[in-house]
Amino acid sequence: MEMISNNKTLVLEKLTPWIGADIKNVSASECAADTNLLALLKEALAQHLVLRFRGQTITPAEIVRFASAFGPLIDVRSPSVPQAIHVPGHDMIQILSNGLDAQGRRFGDGNNSEQIWHTDAGQWEVPPGVVFFYGTQVPNPPPQTAYKNMIKVYDALPQAMKDRIRDLRVIHHMYPRSVDIKVHREGASLPLEQRATGGIKPLVRRHLATNAPILYLPTRRDSVIPGLSESDAHALLDELWAFTNSQDFDWSGPTEAGDVILFDNAATVHRRQGWPDTQRRDVWHLLAEGDSATPYFPKKTPNLNIAPSVKVAAD
Ligand SMILES: [Fe+2]
Repeated sequence: MEMISNNKTLVLEKLTPWIGADIKNVSASECAADTNLLALLKEALAQHLVLRFRGQTITPAEIVRFASAFGPLIDVRSPSVPQAIHVPGHDMIQILSNGLDAQGRRFGDGNNSEQIWHTDAGQWEVPPGVVFFYGTQVPNPPPQTAYKNMIKVYDALPQAMKDRIRDLRVIHHMYPRSVDIKVHREGASLPLEQRATGGIKPLVRRHLATNAPILYLPTRRDSVIPGLSESDAHALLDELWAFTNSQDFDWSGPTEAGDVILFDNAATVHRRQGWPDTQRRDVWHLLAEGDSATPYFPKKTPNLNIAPSVKVAAD
């Protein structure tokens, strides 16, 4: 498949009929240096949600330039591992790595856990819009990362469920390592007060690039849904995740050394396999800001009271 603009051509090969495409004719660095190619690439990302360049050699400065074209970059180097090395001089590159140097310092986040389906950082006011991976060192066999199209999942929901969730909002709260499978299975709920603090996001958000509705779920099933009881909210999130798990709108593949992969963090969920701690995996990880999660069905009430707990002092 070819996309053409102003004498520039992007050649794509679909990875599945519903998500993912390989870019075949240009490198990520070439795209970063060419506004016409970048425009084509953004259009391709809007349609395919996951894009992969294979066999890349890219410098830190080049990948920062490439990722910056999609939005302001976010410093995501793990605050819980402040001594980690990452890429000195490049604050916007986090290394996902379980490796240690000769002095025992971590190269990256120090995590090799299997992860459940999730979107990144829903608890932030402005979650990442596009996520970038660049594989530099990979175990054998390499762990798989899977991506699921949540526009397709929303579309497949029964109409009764679409009607039920259309106006609901969810509070995405902070829970350390909530995406790790062990934490998901065994992690106790935080007190309600802590779960009621976080990003208030719609269950159905708008994909700004295509105007399509997206099913947008919090990772934690004990997330607060204003207007629903605790048990009703939990049951609803369990049901929506079970439905999501049953829908095969996925592409799964390893992040090989030399792969640059970018994906739409609003319109997809992703998960990865774990790997043995005896094997090292290094993947550069960059995040570009997206939108704050625009509701697909916005409330039209004038003077909407979105922060009922705020007290304004009298003069
Ligand atoms: Fe993630």
